[in-house]
Amino acid sequence: MDTDNPNLDLDGVVVPDLVHRLAAGREVEPVWRNLIGGVTFSIGGGAEYVKYGPPHAEFDAEPEFARLRWLSAYVAAPRPIDHGLDDSGNRWLRTEGLPGTSAVLGGWHDRPEVVVPELGRALRRLHDRVPVQGCPWEWSIAGRLEYAGRPADTLGPWPALDLVVCHGDACNPNFLLDPSGTCVGYVDLGRLGVADRWADLAPALLSLGWNFGEGWEPALLDGYGIAPDPGKQDFYTRLWNLA
Ligand SMILES: Nc1ncnc2c1ncn2[C@@H]1O[C@H](COP(=O)(O)OP(=O)(O)O)[C@@H](O)[C@H]1O
Ligand SMILES: [Mg+2]
Repeated sequence: MDTDNPNLDLDGVVVPDLVHRLAAGREVEPVWRNLIGGVTFSIGGGAEYVKYGPPHAEFDAEPEFARLRWLSAYVAAPRPIDHGLDDSGNRWLRTEGLPGTSAVLGGWHDRPEVVVPELGRALRRLHDRVPVQGCPWEWSIAGRLEYAGRPADTLGPWPALDLVVCHGDACNPNFLLDPSGTCVGYVDLGRLGVADRWADLAPALLSLGWNFGEGWEPALLDGYGIAPDPGKQDFYTRLWNLA
């Protein structure tokens, strides 16, 4: 277990009444703490998951629910069950469990030679399989800059677009692996939408350093099957750091 991971600092997490109610007597376990005050709980040993947290621009259960419902026709993503607000004003989203372990947990943290190429292949599969045509959402440069409260020219000229349906938070922990190291699903899809493929590649590459150490970028790009593009990587990394 990676004891330095702040996401796993789960001591003292109190299970909210709402989560107990959803569990209806089944076992509840906190599994992940995010940086905006939210915690994800597993119910019944992974049969279901509940993401629970205070209102925040980066966690709105309704858009994530809608995206999960749409996406499951194309790739493995959690089937959404229900969502809402509890009496204390916290938001929650309940999904069916996928049979996989986050790519940074359960020992995968120590096996980047297996994990990193698969993260690239898995991101490519998502981009290849989910159709841009008919996707109801976009994750545009303009929209993200507006959300960040920045003028449109903040990052300099915008690179030409090569559009796919982007995950929206393609950081390494949001890919679930089976015991052989094959990606069996994607989670955390509240910002899924049409954007340039480098909008996903940039945070996927950026998060390798935090999760696996330096030097793994070429392995992810090889897995994805794309040549480095330092200009686009830089643009979308700067955009990621803004919004
Ligand atoms: N339906 C699910 N099936 C399996 N694991 C899940 C599921 N939902 C969440 N998880 C686990 O909980 C973690 C946190 O969920 P996530 O939606 O990524 O929340 P956050 O926005 O806090 O990162 C994931 O990285 C994954 O390990
Ligand atoms: Mg996540």
